[in-house]
Amino acid sequence: MERYTTVAPVYDLLSGEWPVYRAGRLAGIPALHLLPGDRVVDVGCGTGLNFPLLRRAVTDRGHVVGVDSSHQMLRTARRRLGAGARDVELVHHDATRLRDLVDASGPLAGKTADAVLFTYALSLMTPWRDAWEGALSLARPGARLVVVDMAAPVGGARVFTPLARLATRLGGADIDAHPWTALQADCVDVSHEVLRGGHVQVWAGTWPGR
Ligand SMILES: C[S@@+](CC[C@H](N)C(=O)[O-])C[C@H]1O[C@@H](n2cnc3c(N)ncnc32)[C@H](O)[C@@H]1O
Repeated sequence: MERYTTVAPVYDLLSGEWPVYRAGRLAGIPALHLLPGDRVVDVGCGTGLNFPLLRRAVTDRGHVVGVDSSHQMLRTARRRLGAGARDVELVHHDATRLRDLVDASGPLAGKTADAVLFTYALSLMTPWRDAWEGALSLARPGARLVVVDMAAPVGGARVFTPLARLATRLGGADIDAHPWTALQADCVDVSHEVLRGGHVQVWAGTWPGR
C-alpha cells in the first residue's frame, strides 16, 4: 500500500473527512449495535478515525482491533491513540488474508468478533471479495457487519461525479465495485442509508453464520 504509506501523515487533512466522509462513520458505527464489552474489528482502519466512536460504544470493558496493511497508517493511528489505550489492538496485515489471523497460530486465534466494520476501505482491497470472506471468518454468528463505501452520485448530485471519481481514484478505490452487494447476499436484517447524493453508502446487516 505504497499510496497510503506516503499520504498517512496528511491523510486526515486531505481525505475530505468533514465535508463528505464523516457522515458515513456517524451513520455506520451506530448500525453496528455495539454494547459495552463487545469486541469490534475495524478492517482497513487507516489512521484510526473510527476509534473514538468505537471505543465510546464498547467502553473500557470492550476491545477494538484495527487491521491495516500500511505500517505508516497504523503508526499515525497509534500516535493519535496515545499511551495507555490498552483496549485497542493494531494488527499489521493484508485484509485479503484475514483468515490467517484467526488460524490457531494467528494473533486473533479464538477471539471472534461481535462486529466487523469497513469504512472507505473494502472497495480498495484487491480482491475485495477475499477481504469480505475473511471478515466473515472473524465474525461470530449473530455478529453485526457494516460496510461504509462509495458510489457515483445520483440525481442532482451527478454534477459532482467527476470530483467523486477523481477522489476515489486518488485514494485507490473502485467507485464501481459496490462491495456492499456481498453484505446484501450474506447477511440478514439488512438496512442501508444513502448520504451525500448517493456517494456515501452505509450498509449494515447481521451475519447468521454458515
Ligand atoms: C481510504 S483509507 C480508509 C481508512 C479508514 N477506514 C477511514 O475510514 O478513514 C483505506 C485504508 O485501507 C487500507 N488498505 C487498503 N488495502 C488493504 C488491504 N488489502 N489490507 C489491509 N488494509 C488495506 C489502506 O492502507 C488505508 O489505510
